[in-house]
Amino acid sequence: MRTTLSFSPLLLLFLFLFLLLLSSSFHRAAAQTLIYNTCKTGVNHDSNIDFTFCTTSLQSAPASQCADLRGLGMITIKLIQNNVTDTRCYVKHLLKNKKLDPYVKVRLQDCLELYSDAIPSVKQAVKYYKSKKFVDANREITSVMDAVITCEDGFLEKKGVVSPLKKRDNDTFQLSAISLSIMNMFQTGSH
Ligand SMILES: *[C@@H]1O[C@H](CO)[C@@H](O)[C@H](O)[C@H]1NC(C)=O
Ligand SMILES: *[C@@H]1O[C@H](CO)[C@@H](O)[C@H](O)[C@H]1NC(C)=O
Repeated sequence: MRTTLSFSPLLLLFLFLFLLLLSSSFHRAAAQTLIYNTCKTGVNHDSNIDFTFCTTSLQSAPASQCADLRGLGMITIKLIQNNVTDTRCYVKHLLKNKKLDPYVKVRLQDCLELYSDAIPSVKQAVKYYKSKKFVDANREITSVMDAVITCEDGFLEKKGVVSPLKKRDNDTFQLSAISLSIMNMFQTGSH
């Protein structure tokens, strides 16, 4: 009796699909590792970065699974850009409320101005980052961090007032810290 060793086309197809699956899961694993390591470094760089926030934000960002470190930095700056644009719109919306506490209103007006200024700063940071001018990009992102801190601090001056932007300010602050940590890796060549 002769056993046939020739692969049937179907078997070949299965083999092919299996290898494809394997290679795509390797790619995914590599991307996960990059995000994991980037966030670990981030937490060491700045204790304000929450590890889970970092990994969740980066993992759910479009195209992050295919990005290298430089790409992750760009993705992070884009996330800041989305946050800042969205929050500016949200503050405008809040200010339309006629029953707003006068103290909160003044603070929100300050925040509106701060966020409005942050939008061109992030835009500038994108340009600098693309042309590898990390020192300049760093300066722009730092100004965004200062802006959200100033916005948040405004609400702390009166007891019993809770900032309606607490989570947003915090998110933007953390994303900025993550992007600074990534840029720091390029500047020090520790990647
Ligand atoms: C800000 O970005 C983070 C991370 O992508 C996201 O989880 C959050 O929903 C964003 N917030 C706003 C207000 O866009
Ligand atoms: C931001 O929020 C996280 C979790 O909600 C918290 O651990 C962290 O201390 C906050 N950071 C700042 C700067 O408020």
